[in-house]
Amino acid sequence: MDHPDSNHRIVIFGSDHAGFEAKSHVIDYVKHKGFSVLDLGTYSNKSVDYPEYGVAVAKAIQKQEYASGIIICGTGIGISISANKVKGARAALCTTPFHAEMARKHNDANILVMGARTTSFSEMEVIIDVWFSTDFEGGRHQHRVDKIHSLTEK
Ligand code: RB5
Repeated sequence: MDHPDSNHRIVIFGSDHAGFEAKSHVIDYVKHKGFSVLDLGTYSNKSVDYPEYGVAVAKAIQKQEYASGIIICGTGIGISISANKVKGARAALCTTPFHAEMARKHNDANILVMGARTTSFSEMEVIIDVWFSTDFEGGRHQHRVDKIHSLTEK
């Protein structure tokens, strides 16, 4: 029988064309770390629109089918704006390991966003290591996260 938390070992991925190569690299990296992967595309360098991929990943997270996502576009900006339109999404654009640490500890972020044109593959690996080894602190941060979601409910 699957462990009740087995979806926490699945990472769901999305990117636009600008993030395609970085996504492929990062998928290999997280597989190597023992995670299972679901890749929602895009699957080539052909130009596409980043909102589709950010929203697809956020909706899968929203349904609680998957615990965490990683999405990548050129800067990470457009795809994070898009993902955060989906209720329940807490997509955090991280360009440093410190961003990843704080996004998990304080924001309980559930989607890691990175920019393929701003962040090297080796920097992404460190950011990912921190992301998956850092838990939400809860406490005073919980009601702030709740407030974020009360905004999206209005
Ligand atoms: C695509 O050229 C680029 O605009 C996109 O990847 C992203 O950087 C948008 O925020």
